[in-house]
Amino acid sequence: MALGLPAIPFTFVAHVLGIAGIVLVLVWNLDFRGGLAWESSNKSLIFNIHPVLMLIGLIIIGGEAIISYKSLPLKKEVKKLIHLVLHAIALILGIIGIYTAFKYHNESGIANLYSLHSWLGIGVISLYGIQWIYGFLIFFYPGGSSSLRSESLPWHVLFGLFVYVLAVGTAALGFLEKLTFLENSGLDKYGSEAFLVNFTAVVTILFGAFVVLSVNSQAPADDDYAPI
Ligand code: HEM
Ligand code: HEM
Repeated sequence: MALGLPAIPFTFVAHVLGIAGIVLVLVWNLDFRGGLAWESSNKSLIFNIHPVLMLIGLIIIGGEAIISYKSLPLKKEVKKLIHLVLHAIALILGIIGIYTAFKYHNESGIANLYSLHSWLGIGVISLYGIQWIYGFLIFFYPGGSSSLRSESLPWHVLFGLFVYVLAVGTAALGFLEKLTFLENSGLDKYGSEAFLVNFTAVVTILFGAFVVLSVNSQAPADDDYAPI
């Protein structure tokens, strides 16, 4: 699947949007929401770890893992290792991020898993974990036969993109849900924090769009990029 366009400009825009997303989510949680804490009597500080880790980990590091095949001027084998390690970091940060949302709920006496966001979130992290294990076993260690690898690759790319787009949508729902909670408890609907949160969600979606564009574009001509 290819658009016939060079991938490098798309990966460059994705990097810039990724940095913007990191800055925005940190400014929101550190400056506007009072900071991050693993243990605190102010339980909101525990919650704040959730959006920070989900965005920086699963979405941005996960997106960089996907585009690493197109963005890095390195040998295929090295890029494979970078792809798998960045996805492992994304998955681990995602699991810790979800754990903090449960920790916050449990310590505040709030019910678990009542929202569409939380249901999709469990789906995303489970599918992401399955995708990682299958990718590792087939493409890395012990590695499938060459026919199994070439038959698996289109499914790996399709399923990987599906899980990733679902993650971006789930993050957007999370921003919406949190902002709605804040507005219902008095936050100014047109105030600077509301704009900041909506803007962070827009940047997240644009980042995801440029990841998908990069995957469907061509690696540089001198790249040793070839299936598997
Ligand atoms: C793909 C990224 C994300 C995933 C997989 C995810 C997953 C989850 C899960 C599984 C829960 C349920 C915790 C429980 O029931 O105790 C949850 C809660 C929550 N998340 Fe996320 N989340 C993501 C990103 C975000 C972002 C970026 C925000 C923005 C603030 C956010 C806001 C919330 C809120 C407000 C809750 C508590 C209310 C609820 O359970 O729906 N999430 N998330
Ligand atoms: C949840 C984790 C993962 C996701 C979401 C994911 C997603 C993707 C996507 C979207 C592509 C297409 C990239 C492109 O064509 O530009 C891809 C390619 C690939 N991935 Fe993964 N991947 C994951 C884990 C892994 C793991 C653990 C391995 C093990 C080595 C792996 C091996 C590969 C290989 C060999 C390619 C093919 C590159 C090529 O030759 O076209 N992936 N992955």
